[in-house]
Amino acid sequence: MHRRLSAAVLFSLAALFLFACFSLHLSRSSISHSDLVSHYPIPSPAADHHLISELQPLPLRHVTTSSISSVAVLLPAWEVLVIVSPETPLSGGLDGYACVFKDNSTSDARFAGILPSMNRTAFYCTMPRRAKRRRPFLQPALSTRSRIISKDLPETTAGPELIRWTLLVYESFSTETDVVLFAKGLNNRPGVNRPPSEFRCVFGGGDNAVRTAVTSSFQEVFRCPHPDSTALNGPVNVSLEIVNKTNLVVPSVAYYTATPKRRWISSSDNAGPTQSPSHELCACTMVYNVAKVLREWVTYHSQIGVDRFFLYDNDSDDDLEEVVRQLNREGFNITTTFWIWPKTQEAGFSHAAVYGKALCKWMMYIDVDEFVFAPNAWSEALAPDRHMLKSLIPKGPDIGQVSIQCNEFGPSNQRTHPLEGVTLGYTCRRRLLRLRHKSIVLLEAVEHSLLNVIHHFEIKKEFRSMQLSTEDAIVNHYKYQAWPEFRTKFRRRVSAYVVDWTDALNPMSNDRAPGLGFQPVEPKGWADMFCEVRDDRLKMLTKKWFGSSTSSKMVWQS
Ligand SMILES: *[C@@H]1O[C@H](CO)[C@@H](O)[C@H](O)[C@H]1NC(C)=O
Ligand SMILES: *[C@@H]1O[C@H](CO)[C@@H](O)[C@H](O)[C@H]1NC(C)=O
Ligand SMILES: *[C@@H]1O[C@H](CO)[C@@H](O)[C@H](O)[C@H]1NC(C)=O
Ligand SMILES: *[C@@H]1O[C@H](CO)[C@@H](O)[C@H](O)[C@H]1NC(C)=O
Ligand SMILES: *[C@@H]1O[C@H](CO)[C@@H](O)[C@H](O)[C@H]1NC(C)=O
Ligand SMILES: *[C@@H]1O[C@H](CO)[C@@H](O)[C@H](O)[C@H]1NC(C)=O
Repeated sequence: MHRRLSAAVLFSLAALFLFACFSLHLSRSSISHSDLVSHYPIPSPAADHHLISELQPLPLRHVTTSSISSVAVLLPAWEVLVIVSPETPLSGGLDGYACVFKDNSTSDARFAGILPSMNRTAFYCTMPRRAKRRRPFLQPALSTRSRIISKDLPETTAGPELIRWTLLVYESFSTETDVVLFAKGLNNRPGVNRPPSEFRCVFGGGDNAVRTAVTSSFQEVFRCPHPDSTALNGPVNVSLEIVNKTNLVVPSVAYYTATPKRRWISSSDNAGPTQSPSHELCACTMVYNVAKVLREWVTYHSQIGVDRFFLYDNDSDDDLEEVVRQLNREGFNITTTFWIWPKTQEAGFSHAAVYGKALCKWMMYIDVDEFVFAPNAWSEALAPDRHMLKSLIPKGPDIGQVSIQCNEFGPSNQRTHPLEGVTLGYTCRRRLLRLRHKSIVLLEAVEHSLLNVIHHFEIKKEFRSMQLSTEDAIVNHYKYQAWPEFRTKFRRRVSAYVVDWTDALNPMSNDRAPGLGFQPVEPKGWADMFCEVRDDRLKMLTKKWFGSSTSSKMVWQS
């Protein structure tokens, strides 16, 4: 009934538009029904009104830039990422900008972050409703709010098409010996990788472009030799070319720099490729809004031997940056990299494997809701020490990777985030071990392909992987937390091979929470779910190690 009614509404609207000779391209995939029904017919307000209608009020400031060169990528959910070109540094602050789309509709530019490879500023603009209706979608122009308000609009009707995130070279960096490129849309199916011979790396454009052969093509990671740098002047963009009759060059927002970027290396780290790395063990993780739990995770793992942490930040909007700054001031070593590309957890891990190699001998890949410990060996220890984690790694020159199994903890009757920390708050778990495991990888042993699937790397033939027994080491995974926490976390899935839990497809996936539907609505009895075994082994340890004799607070509590 409802469906028929909406169809009728749709039909009459469509007829109306045809009658009005509207040249409108409807695409089922991109314009939703509700979009259409609720926003038509378009009122045509005074130019002044719609010009600034999507701009939020903001104090104006003087920005002198007159034209800002940028490229723009259409992300899921109509977000547009606008990346400022390296040759046009911004001169003002970060809050005086807006996007102008081809029909002159505008939206605020929200600072997104700094892309790692070239120190380029990126903004998000939400595509205004009107701009969604007409194809092709062109890249918006980035302008200052003051220019827009004074109606000095940039030309946007002839710009290039918006780049789609589904086919894109999104990042690149140089190692001592070659160039690593990260690309979406070329190897799309798990386990199916097109041979390197089907691609070439292209540095720069037009007649001056330099090409080199691709030596590796796995997942989203491609490698090729450096170009002869004398043939290039200044920074150039870099992309992949699909070798066939048409030689399509994949759209790219990546740049090439001839020298390996040393951003991660502070003045105290001077290990070159031939010297041994300055840290024995580092940890790498993909994060989104973890400010609340970071202190506990970093304190704990640092005390048992992680020397340095690499966080790949997927556009957090909590106070992550401030918490990281504070922890670094206290002597922890945490580096954050802006990493927002959809479903690129594996690529981020590959990035860390080569980027971290000059600094770290071993890299542990675990999440911020996971804590490693040795149930037997550590139970009597009065205090943590920095050899503990390293001592879990079996001795032997051929050990390239160790994996550790996970227990999944339930809400343990918590209704809100436990202030004393997750290791104390969650003590009830499922009986069976999960199939997932987490690993500690010898970076020297990682294959040239940088291939990894779900926290596990492909390693060179001369090395082997070992799984530790659950007596020796275990990961406590605080997966099903108090409902408000779980709800926010599961709105975001990070892996390329993991389904979105709100998607009704693939209902049997291992990644689903059993008994949970597809809606972010608290299931009945959530607080007691997944509680089959009481397990307070880690709670006992952290209480002993990080509790206080003079107060009831843990060291990580403010
Ligand atoms: C990066 O860019 C920002 C803003 O464009 C600038 O202030 C900063 O100095 C740059 N840093 C480096 C290392 O180039
Ligand atoms: C956008 O604004 C500019 C300058 O005000 C004007 O020249 C142009 O015709 C407008 N374009 C559209 C599609 O309204
Ligand atoms: C790289 O930049 C050149 C201009 O310098 C341009 O012609 C070319 O299209 C760009 N390539 C990509 C993949 O964006
Ligand atoms: C070359 O490859 C591109 C991308 O896969 C494809 O769109 C195009 O049709 C191919 N051209 C030929 C001539 O095979
Ligand atoms: C941070 O790194 C330095 C060496 O670069 C090291 O001496 C120090 O112990 C590290 N701090 C922590 C808390 O791990
Ligand atoms: C980042 O978050 C977005 C939005 O929830 C998600 O689509 C994307 O897959 C995430 N990417 C990574 C690398 O975690």
